[in-house]
Amino acid sequence: MSISETTENQSTSRFVRACLRLPVDRTPVWFLRQAGRYMPEYMAVRKHHTLLDICRKPEIAAEVTITAAEKLGVDAAIIFADLLLPFTPMGLDFEFLAGEGPVVHQPVRTRQQIDALRTDRVAELGYVAEAIAKVAKHFAPPRADGDTLGIIGFCGAPFTLASYMIEGGSSRNYIETKQMMYADPGVWAALMEKLLEVLIGFAAQQVEAGADVIQIFDSWAGALSVTDYREYVLPITTRLVKAVQALGVPVIYFGVDTASQLSTMRETAADVIGLDWRVPLDEGWRAVGHDRAVQGNLDPITLFAPEDVLRRRVQEIFTAAGGRNGHIFNLGHGIVPGTPVENVQRVVEMVKEFSAATVRA
Ligand code: CP3
Repeated sequence: MSISETTENQSTSRFVRACLRLPVDRTPVWFLRQAGRYMPEYMAVRKHHTLLDICRKPEIAAEVTITAAEKLGVDAAIIFADLLLPFTPMGLDFEFLAGEGPVVHQPVRTRQQIDALRTDRVAELGYVAEAIAKVAKHFAPPRADGDTLGIIGFCGAPFTLASYMIEGGSSRNYIETKQMMYADPGVWAALMEKLLEVLIGFAAQQVEAGADVIQIFDSWAGALSVTDYREYVLPITTRLVKAVQALGVPVIYFGVDTASQLSTMRETAADVIGLDWRVPLDEGWRAVGHDRAVQGNLDPITLFAPEDVLRRRVQEIFTAAGGRNGHIFNLGHGIVPGTPVENVQRVVEMVKEFSAATVRA
């Protein structure tokens, strides 16, 4: 039985239904980085714990996840975790430095280093699954409007994770990463295979624990030309997407600055493609194909705009979506620190209002 048949019969949340392009009572909404530094409740927890502490303590990760989803009134909760967590069981040390972001102390640059990466300790990431189980239990009963909140697990895509491993942190030009791809495709492929194995295991734990959907973050795929994306990234990412779908959940595949790659990203077979804000939603959806769902795509900085501007931008996204099945309202990238929480809450209200006014196709 296909995912869509299973889910149609079980009638689940409007979020999962939208991922599968099934009819919904209204457009579901959630936000990238909905639990983060813009939120006072998160900062209160953060005062006493490091980022990695929060990720690694299921009780706290679940609390942060639940608090954000309830405070905003969104339709899905993304588990509080980080893209880089699988590095630890692979044998790669990293830390988050204030103001700098992630730092990998010994960047992976050689065949020997890749051969030394471990793929047999994925069980050590079980704390993420434990946190998901707590969140899923909390949100199991239907909410006041009768809908069940969707639970999102996630992982990085092989290219984006490799870029952190190879560059040693965030990067502007991805010189080391691209150099490895170009100069030594065999070494690159070996790294991709190791990441694939670990990511499939990690996603499986999350689905087993109750994740309804897995989002695969290929945040920096937009740094690649379409040719390089097709040659070095698309095949391995497609295998990841299909392996996660085989676990029985829909997949959201997201990247930033991907307007030129959307029609290629669709080839991964992902159920939902995340759009960043640079591409108009209708144009992006055409490139993705209307036989797939899309997620997006308000510019996160619009959340700093006066209410009338914010309202117009939200309205425009609804107009561009045209009442089609398979739109999940979200931002085009994560909420940034300093964002007024009440504006995020206002967007949720607007989504409800504009959904009610939408003639559904
Ligand atoms: O609510 C949620 O979105 C869940 C939590 C979440 C975090 N990281 C927690 C976090 C998610 C989904 C991520 C994914 C993640 N991590 C991505 C992909 C998303 C994207 O932005 O495209 C990436 C690239 C990372 C790696 C990472 N983690 C970076 C580059 C940074 C530093 C940049 C920054 O914003 O400071 C982090 C740190 C991080 N991960 C924070 C949070 C809430 C902020 C730092 C903190 O709390 O100290």
